[in-house]
Amino acid sequence: MPTMSRIEQAFCRSAPWRAFAKRSVLPWALADEALSGDVLEIGSGSGAMAAAVLERFPDVRLIATDADPAMVDAATSRLARYGDRVEIRQVDSTSLEFDDDCFDAVLSFLMLHHVMRWERALVEAIRVLRPGGVLVGYDLLETPPARFIHGVDGSAHRLFRLPELRAAVADLPVEVPDLASCFGGIVTQFRLRKVK
Ligand SMILES: C[S@@+](CC[C@H](N)C(=O)[O-])C[C@H]1O[C@@H](n2cnc3c(N)ncnc32)[C@H](O)[C@@H]1O
Repeated sequence: MPTMSRIEQAFCRSAPWRAFAKRSVLPWALADEALSGDVLEIGSGSGAMAAAVLERFPDVRLIATDADPAMVDAATSRLARYGDRVEIRQVDSTSLEFDDDCFDAVLSFLMLHHVMRWERALVEAIRVLRPGGVLVGYDLLETPPARFIHGVDGSAHRLFRLPELRAAVADLPVEVPDLASCFGGIVTQFRLRKVK
């Protein structure tokens, strides 16, 4: 079921976003985190970041997931060229259909604020990580511009602030969380490593 407005869906599929995601967003979001092995992306949208990950890290086997079937279709077309290195599935991030401890990394880019139960999505992401695996991502924080944009475009959302994110990860089995506030507090960049 779609959680984004038509405007946001169109943006997420657009060529400018794909180019920007590859050139600027992915390198910034990952910082110095090198990916390899089995990687899960939650809320992968049209596959813009997934394509950038597959290009940049030839050793990655990726499962790209999204709750919205239209986004799954878009990503299936976009990522077909990567063959069996990638699988695209319709999966709700709050109820991941994967065993415990089966991914080396989970990626969450600009999607948690669209998930009403985002705390649950975090619990699930950490559950499916192998010990020592990492959840990396970024998201919008609750600020007047973010409230305004989502109010106008009508996307389903539940924005959060950094203290709420800190509280949500406090009880998870992760090492000291790396949660940064960036660009004047508009976005958070996070890295959570599951304890060994
Ligand atoms: C703003 S888009 C970001 C897409 C992609 N991560 C990117 O950076 O291009 C947010 C995505 O999260 C998806 N989404 C929303 N709620 C979800 C949920 N509960 N589980 C999985 N995906 C969800 C939406 O369908 C949408 O594709």
